[in-house]
Order: sequence, then C-alpha cells, then structure tokens
Amino acid sequence: MPAHLVCFEKACRKRYPVTEVIYNCPACGGLLEVGYTDWSPDPERLKRFFRERRMSNAPLEQSGVWRYRELIPFLDDFGNVVTLREGNTPLLESPKAAAYGGLKSIAFKHQGFNPTGSFKDNGMTCGASQAIRLGMRRVACVSTGNTSASMSAYASAAGLQPIIFVPHGNIALGKLAQALEYGALTLQVEANFDQILALVRRLAERLGIYLLNSINPFRIEGQKSIAIEMMDQRDWRPPDWVVLPGGNLGNVSALGKAFRELRDLGFIPRLPRLAVIQAEGAAPFYRFMKAPRPGGFEPERRPETLATAIRIGAPVSWPKAWYEIEQSNGVVEQVSEEEIADAKAQIGRAGIGCEPASAATLAGIRKLTGAGVIDKEADVVAVLTGNLLKDPDYVHRYHTGQLKTAHGRPVRGKFANQPVVAPNDPDRIAALLSG
Ligand code: F0G
Repeated sequence: MPAHLVCFEKACRKRYPVTEVIYNCPACGGLLEVGYTDWSPDPERLKRFFRERRMSNAPLEQSGVWRYRELIPFLDDFGNVVTLREGNTPLLESPKAAAYGGLKSIAFKHQGFNPTGSFKDNGMTCGASQAIRLGMRRVACVSTGNTSASMSAYASAAGLQPIIFVPHGNIALGKLAQALEYGALTLQVEANFDQILALVRRLAERLGIYLLNSINPFRIEGQKSIAIEMMDQRDWRPPDWVVLPGGNLGNVSALGKAFRELRDLGFIPRLPRLAVIQAEGAAPFYRFMKAPRPGGFEPERRPETLATAIRIGAPVSWPKAWYEIEQSNGVVEQVSEEEIADAKAQIGRAGIGCEPASAATLAGIRKLTGAGVIDKEADVVAVLTGNLLKDPDYVHRYHTGQLKTAHGRPVRGKFANQPVVAPNDPDRIAALLSG
C-alpha cells in the first residue's frame, strides 16, 4: 500500500511523494497528512497478529507503535526505525476519580508511562525514523517542553543532532532537564510558543534542519497508535467518549484520524465522541467552536496558563481538529486554573498522578457531566498525556498553598496536602501521628 503526502484541504487534495521534505502544501499552504492507496488490511488476521507480537522479544514487536505497523505503513524499510519501546501504556481504572468526574467509571490511558514520560514518544519514533529515511542529520522543534524532551531522546538514540527552541522561563523544569541530559542544543527564546514556531519554520528551510513539530505528518501517524493500542486493550470496543487536552491540537487530529481509519477498515464498528479540553487562558479552539466565524480562526495573542504544556494561542492543527470534532460529534470545553489544579490532585489521590495539562481532562469531564453533555453511565477514556514528575514545582506549590497565576493571583486548591515539619523526637512524632 504505497504511502503519499496529501493536502488536508478538501478543495485541493494535491498529492506529493512521501519522501518530499514539506510541512505544508506547496500549492495552497494547507496542512498535510499521510494517505495510503490500495489499503485493505484484514482486521481479524491483524488483531490476532497484534496479540501474538506481544510475546516477542524483537524490538519492533515490543514497541507499542511499531507492533501496529500495518496501520501506519509509511516506511518501506524498517531498518530506519529508532525505537525506545514507546507506547505500551496502561488503561487504569479509578472509581475515586470517576466519582470526582461525575461518572460511574473511568479509565485513564496514561501516556506518562512512555520512555520520556509523555505521549510525544508515540509520534516521535515515527518522526525520527522518517528523518533517518530522508538522510537528515539535524532535527529541530519548538516546544512547551514535552516534544523537546522526546525529540532529544529519539534524535540522540538515532545519532541525529537535536536542536530545541523553548519559551524562556515557561517550560517545566523536568522537561528542560530531560532535553539537556539527552544532549539537545537548547535555545531558550524570549518569546512564546506561537512566536517561536513562526521563527523556526522560516529557519528550518534556510538551515536544512528537519522539523519535528506536530505539523510533521509522520508524528501524527505515530500518535495514531494511542487510539489503536487503546482499542486493542479494550478488545476493539470503542468507548462512548475519548477526552483529551488541547494545545497545538496535533493529538486530537491523530486520534480522530486513527478512529476513522479503524472504522473504515472494519476494526471497530463506530467512532467514539471526542472531547477536547483547553485551559481558559489559552482556549482559542474552544472559542472558535462555540461561535465559528466566517473570518476564520482567531488566535489568542497572549495565552496564559500554569499548565504550560498547553500554553498555546495559535494552534497549527486547528483545521484538522475541527474536522475530527465534527466527524465524531465531539465537543470542546474550557476549564479554569483551579479546576485543573484540583482535578490533578484527585488523579494523584487515586494513586495515578499526571502533569497539569493532562488533568484538564478530568476537570473537563466534571464540567461536561455537570452540564449533562456526558452521561454519568457513559463509557469514558481520558488520555493522560504526561507524567506527574514532569512539573514537580507546580505540585509542590499546590500542596503548600503557593500556586499563583502569571498575574500573581493565588490558585487556591481544595486538596492541598501540606508536608509537616517534625522535630527529631520520637515522643512528639508519636503524638503527631496519634492526633
Ligand atoms: N498535554 C501535554 C502534556 C502536552 O505536552 C501537550 C503538548 C498537550 C497535552 C497538547 O497536545 O498540542 O497535540 O494538542 N505539548 C506540545 C509540546 C505542544 O511542545 O510539548 P496537542
């Protein structure tokens, strides 16, 4: 089944070779996606294969992305693959978190279990493998943190040079630490994500650097595996809802594409509804969906949220995300800083934990069940996109009552768990513990 790049714009749909180094349609400027011709895999046979491969010690089969390679068939030579055994992330149930979200039950697809601790690894194994196929030596990305951590690891593992551009002072320390440790040339630019992305897109061509932001359609192909693995884990029963946080909107584009392809190829009978949750201070997609304007998409010029992963005002993938919300009869919601912080603490109390952006899911679910949009009996999967340890500073501030917005407004948490300073005295500690 030959792969090609194709313009996402309905009015264009121009095709290009899969080996062309382009990020937008040269004809109309639209987003690109990977398409396949003569693609008719046998669902029952492949479902069996996918299970059998879990018994194998071969690197390709141990990857929770490449195990499903017949559903992301853009490479013609698997010798190019760089894998850190990404994917293989659990579905975790939690009655406690379900109750907080107003649901009978919930399962978290926890992408924080990935090698670099976020869902970006599912896509990066594909993006980096494509970079090797193209003979690239240097790869770059602009990032709110997780993409840069992931890209740095995969590039270094593959012997490519990682170059990362991050907003100075607005990236969680765990993520910056990862990029430095994985050997990235790290540029902390005094601008926000949207401004830096515009800058780097101009530079990439000039310097011959391969861009691995989610505008890269091969990253999106890899992130499809989040949905594919989720369906495999659920014996190919789609849930009623899949809920995820929205920033640059690459992930909702990837999951939406995956579910549509799985339905069209006969793997699942229907699509789950998608719910995208944004932080109030960085919610241009929410506003667009509430009142689509003929003038088009209006970016948020000064995005602000303590969930720095989704501090994005001009999400590049909004046309794809819009399409996926329409196709799946989905919804978009926004949540406040307090709602994110408290939902995060609840996910922590369930023994699961996640980073702030991920917790927007449970905060959004609570709001959507409250409004009657999601039924309390519904079968819901929330995608936790990043690991708890990505942003320890936020966690510490929350639990010690020191969390403040960029404007200095205190974010008061309902579930703070203050550490107690104890004297080095057994009797007084015993007294403390019996009180
Ligand atoms: N959750 C986390 C933890 C993220 O790191 C991101 C995006 C998102 C959600 C939003 O996903 O952009 O596909 O809608 N992080 C990017 C980065 C932008 O640079 O790491 P999206």
